[in-house]
Amino acid sequence: MDAGKVAAEKGKGVTPIQQELETHLAAGPVPAAEVMALALYHPQHGYYRQATGPWGFEGKDYYTALDLGPLLGQALALRLEQAWERLDRPSEFTVLEAGAGRGWLGRDILNAATSVFAASIRYVHRDDNPAARGAAEVALAPFLADGRARFIAEAETIVPFQGAVLSNELFDALPAQPWRFDGERWVREVLTRSGPEWHPHEESISAAWFASQSDGLETGDGSAWCEALPIVASTLVDALHSGLFITLDYGDHASHLLAKGADLRRYKGHTVDGKWWDDLGECDLTADVDFTRLAKILEERGLQNVAHETLSKWIRAQAPLAEWESQWQELETTTRIKRMENLLQLTMPGMMGERFRVLEGWRY
Ligand SMILES: C[S@@+](CC[C@H](N)C(=O)[O-])C[C@H]1O[C@@H](n2cnc3c(N)ncnc32)[C@H](O)[C@@H]1O
Repeated sequence: MDAGKVAAEKGKGVTPIQQELETHLAAGPVPAAEVMALALYHPQHGYYRQATGPWGFEGKDYYTALDLGPLLGQALALRLEQAWERLDRPSEFTVLEAGAGRGWLGRDILNAATSVFAASIRYVHRDDNPAARGAAEVALAPFLADGRARFIAEAETIVPFQGAVLSNELFDALPAQPWRFDGERWVREVLTRSGPEWHPHEESISAAWFASQSDGLETGDGSAWCEALPIVASTLVDALHSGLFITLDYGDHASHLLAKGADLRRYKGHTVDGKWWDDLGECDLTADVDFTRLAKILEERGLQNVAHETLSKWIRAQAPLAEWESQWQELETTTRIKRMENLLQLTMPGMMGERFRVLEGWRY
């Protein structure tokens, strides 16, 4: 059955991405990662190529840590200041944020930074998403005006700098391919004209990697393979002449992800499900990040002391929580409650605290 008929039976319209996919599907099954790439990054119809953004609460699809309040930016400002100290307080400390979205993290960091460190920050926003760019022009306006913030396009060559490379929910937005062990062999998820199916596949690096994962394997185990991970991570880490690489994202160790089973997640109107083939181009698709693989890629590119931990642990180690809490006593009640909620959402296991990880590495 073609996409038009499936959509009509469900009483829904066919999205431009679904129409475009028809030609591909007519030639045979399309791997889920290719569908995800089209759905998010098709130059005209991709979810991340639209003029208005999907972030926020009311009427939007999902929120990130930045919608919860300024605490993540405040904690990162402290961490970046330590990196600046470690580099002997350079007069220019570049902070390149990849997948920077609305620029809210940059704004929160620049607002939280103080004194000489604040004056040395050169924040660089890198994200070709038009909605992100528009929102970031507003959020970063004072810092664009005083020369502490600027934009670069993803295609622009980055001259290696001293400072930090930062990202929040970048790697989980890269196209990823679910694989699963069916009891006898590894199969990967594809889209066919009648819906999603799991097919065997042997000719790729990912197939070889999954074939090598046999320890304690059970039927249904699996994870998602991100082909672009080494390319995107290497481009970013190679930009760092010296300083801190720090990335925050949903994900886990490779062994934990494998034991959980593979899936792509779809976010639409704040509901989450696994129907990645529905409403293509009109909802967000994400996959957990394999932090074991990401850490290995970064080490191979020369980063040292690469380690990752849950956001909850990281924030408890980085942020002066007792000091913050006593400062909040001076705020008016609504703002004080918001700060407490912000902290709880970043640290509680059921919220972002346990499922979200922070990876750091250094180039000396
Ligand atoms: C889930 S959003 C996160 C945005 C923002 N960091 C936040 O937390 O609100 C992922 C963003 O990554 C961007 N992106 C995807 N691949 C990228 C790449 N290779 N370089 C820079 N940005 C990228 C997308 O355009 C999208 O805006």
